[in-house]
Amino acid sequence: MTDAAQAHRSAPALARTPEELACLRRSLEGRVALVPTMGALHGGHRALMAAAREQADTIVASVFVNPLQFGPGEDYESYPRDLDTDMRVCAEEGAALVFAPSVEDVYPGEQIVRIDPGDMGRVLEGEFRPGFFGGVLTVVNKLFNLVQPDVAVFGQKDAQQLALVRRMVRDLNMAVDIAAAPTMRDSDNLASSSRNAYLSPAERRSALSLSRALLAGADASVTGPVGILSAARAVLDEAAAGEPPVTVDYLALVDANTFAEVPNDFRGEAVLLVAARVGRTRLIDNVPLSL
Ligand code: PAJ
Repeated sequence: MTDAAQAHRSAPALARTPEELACLRRSLEGRVALVPTMGALHGGHRALMAAAREQADTIVASVFVNPLQFGPGEDYESYPRDLDTDMRVCAEEGAALVFAPSVEDVYPGEQIVRIDPGDMGRVLEGEFRPGFFGGVLTVVNKLFNLVQPDVAVFGQKDAQQLALVRRMVRDLNMAVDIAAAPTMRDSDNLASSSRNAYLSPAERRSALSLSRALLAGADASVTGPVGILSAARAVLDEAAAGEPPVTVDYLALVDANTFAEVPNDFRGEAVLLVAARVGRTRLIDNVPLSL
């Protein structure tokens, strides 16, 4: 950790409005890293702040549950919100500043102009959550403009989001570096997520089939895409018949750069992705694979 991050370990400043942020931003020193979050901070978010400490002198975390990326019937209202605990986590992780604006401050009127993620944002997560990536990229663009970071850190856990943010920065010539942190897992190998709090113990046991399926796929990587997908599918089929059942939205092996499904002779960086529902909780996980 740099001296600047160390100095802030105890007490991040809190900006509740863009005006307060602009004022506090001026006093931040050195290279500034932004860690965008929706709060309910867990080990995965801590890993991003640890990566941010490697990347920069000063860490800014944002905590904002972004209504634009939630669809009708999704968990916008019930999404866990606890700013006091989040402030404590940010203090422990050495953040200098936390930006936690209200919805009215971020969206003072109708958001007419939005970022269009293109075809890459309409497959996989984009197919099951229409409008999701448009909402994500629009708020990430706002956060970049408001915080003006030198670098922003995103998690591999949301692989398609990370790839789309990288693509937005490239396609729109944004002056920010993007850094990635690997997926953090709980001790039972379930990918850490704010939504894991919704799972009953039995649902959590069923949910472990996601990481098991990815591991089975990774273990079969020498057999190529067809072998990888069938090894992962076998685990998920069993979980679909289990109790409580796991309902798979998609299992896919994609090119890590384009998120297009790979042909069987593909060579290069790929990602094996799964999305599934257990009870009323929707979970995603993935593993990067070199083919
Ligand atoms: P949120 O789900 O709070 O996640 C914030 C960041 O933490 C994302 O970059 C996500 O990939 C990362 N993250 C979540 N769980 C992780 C894990 N287990 N291991 C590593 N990183 C993990 O993603 C969002 O919020 C929003 O879409 C946001 C980018 C803030 C825009 O609203």
